[in-house]
Order: sequence, then C-alpha cells, then structure tokens
Amino acid sequence: MSPLPAPAPIVARTPAEVASAINAMRGPGRSVGFAPTMGALHAGHAELVKSIAARGDISVASIFVNPTQFGPNEDLARYPRDEAGDLAVLAVSGCHIAYAPAPQTMYPPGFASRIQVDGPSAGLETDVRPHFFSGVATVVAKLLLQVRPDYAVFGEKDYQQLLVVRRLAADLDLGVRIEGLPTVRESDGLAMSSRNRYLDPAARAAAAALPSALGDAVQRLEAGQDPAPVTQHVVERLRAAGFTRIDYVDVRDAATLGVLGPGPVDRPARILAAAVIGGARLIDNWPVNPA
Ligand code: PAJ
Repeated sequence: MSPLPAPAPIVARTPAEVASAINAMRGPGRSVGFAPTMGALHAGHAELVKSIAARGDISVASIFVNPTQFGPNEDLARYPRDEAGDLAVLAVSGCHIAYAPAPQTMYPPGFASRIQVDGPSAGLETDVRPHFFSGVATVVAKLLLQVRPDYAVFGEKDYQQLLVVRRLAADLDLGVRIEGLPTVRESDGLAMSSRNRYLDPAARAAAAALPSALGDAVQRLEAGQDPAPVTQHVVERLRAAGFTRIDYVDVRDAATLGVLGPGPVDRPARILAAAVIGGARLIDNWPVNPA
C-alpha cells in the first residue's frame, strides 16, 4: 500500500491568521521555531524546516518574495514562484503552519519604514547590492514580530545575511534566538539555491567550479598561505570555468565579517564569493579554521 500523503500545513495569509494558528497549537513547554523563505523551496530550505520539526516544536515557515530586497535591475519579476510545490515540500518536512502573506499585506499603501543594520552589512553583498540588507532587515523584523517565535533558523549559505539578522535581533531586543544551519549542497558541491534553476545544463556543470575553487582555497589558507594570492587564484579559476562577472572573493573574520590584517589567517575566518554564470548570480562561503 502506498504511504499516505503528509498532512498539509495550515496556510495563514495575515498577521492575525498566523498568530491565531500558532496560539491554537501552543501548549506548555512547546517552543515555536520559524524558517523564513522566499519560496521556490529546495532541499536546503527543507533542512531548516525539518530541524524545527525534529525537536518536536511548532514549525512555522514563511513564503514571501520580498520586493524591498531586490534592486531595480534584479530578478524580482522572474524570481520562481510555485506555492503548490512549496506547500508540498513543507508538508513532507513537518511544517505545521505556512505563512504566505500578499505583498500588500506586508507593505500596505503608505508603508514608509526601513531598518538599516550597519556592522556586518559593510562590504561584500552591500558593495554590489546596496539596497539588499535594509530590505532583508525590514522584512525579517516584520516577520519575527508577526510570528514571535522562540527561535528562527537561517542558512549559513547566506552567511552575511545570517550575521546581519543576528545583529538585528540583538540590537532591537526582539527576544528571538537566531540559529545558523550548514549549507546543503548538490552532489558536485554546488550550494542549493532557488536561482540554480536559471542555469542551463552547461552552465550548471561549470558552476561546480565555485565550491571546488573555494574548497581548495580553504586548504591553502589553513596551510598558512596569504589570502591575497589565494583569492586571486580563485578568481582565475572562476574566469576559466566561464563565470562572466566576479563580484567578490574575500576572506573575512568569521564572527564579525571584519577585514583581516595582512599575512596568514590567524583566527576563525570565512572565505566568501559571489559570481555570475549563465545569467545566474551565485554566492557561496566556507569556514577557514587555521590550526
Ligand atoms: P531564501 O533565499 O528563500 O532562503 C531562505 C533561507 O534558506 C535562508 O536562511 C537561506 O540561507 C536558507 N538557504 C538557502 N539555500 C540554502 C542551502 N543550500 N543550505 C542551507 N540553507 C539554505 O534568504 C532569503 O530567502 C531571504 O533573504 C529572507 C531571509 C527570507 C528574507 O526575505
């Protein structure tokens, strides 16, 4: 006999609906965990949701393609949207409540506020997408205030975003713990991303040069080589693989994303990169832990 389909999550469309769905499930000692997403869900998102369900907590996920974090020439209009597919992924991942508000619910006429987080926002993504982290911080603050979870889970794949959200939650006393979970990868190492579906087969195969070059760089950095020639070597490998634009390849302090001093890496660090291939902008990062 074939297995029964997993029960569908309750779908909430407004802050009042998500609050009452959570209140109906909340009981003594039961925590609420929250995974915010922009939909087009893949196995990386599913891991975030599963990590909540695995603890026996109330699992809430949001699906909202947030217009304020896209620049005027970015992919907001063509960003993949598939709510039915997303709800199926959430169902098998143990999600109890899917929060999928409409844009006008999150940003009604007259909406005029924007949250600016400094510190970990400096450089990297911000050099290329100056609007990005204020859009992320604004929507994440709203979502956290609407859902009021005990903790929220974010992927290390978007490492700078994880540190920005952590800063936001601490600075605004949001009373929510921010957890980072490891990057989920395809079998050739490419980090799973909703934007991978923009890649044709040739570009998809070539894209594996990104994790491969970064993995080699980690070994060199941990062996004591200077970051400048190591990152330059990554840039050359990406160009040779067919990446057409390389936004950055940089080694930063893992805790603050602050710029490192000259010479070999002497503390926990992170190598981060963003580059374009086949019309898709891909990002990735790896930990660097010198002996
Ligand atoms: P989105 O790109 O949909 O990602 C939602 C969450 O899934 C983020 O925490 C992201 O880091 C995580 N994630 C994506 N790919 C992953 C992978 N391969 N392995 C592990 N985690 C992965 O990030 C956003 O949406 C938005 O900026 C958001 C925070 C929802 C605000 O709009």
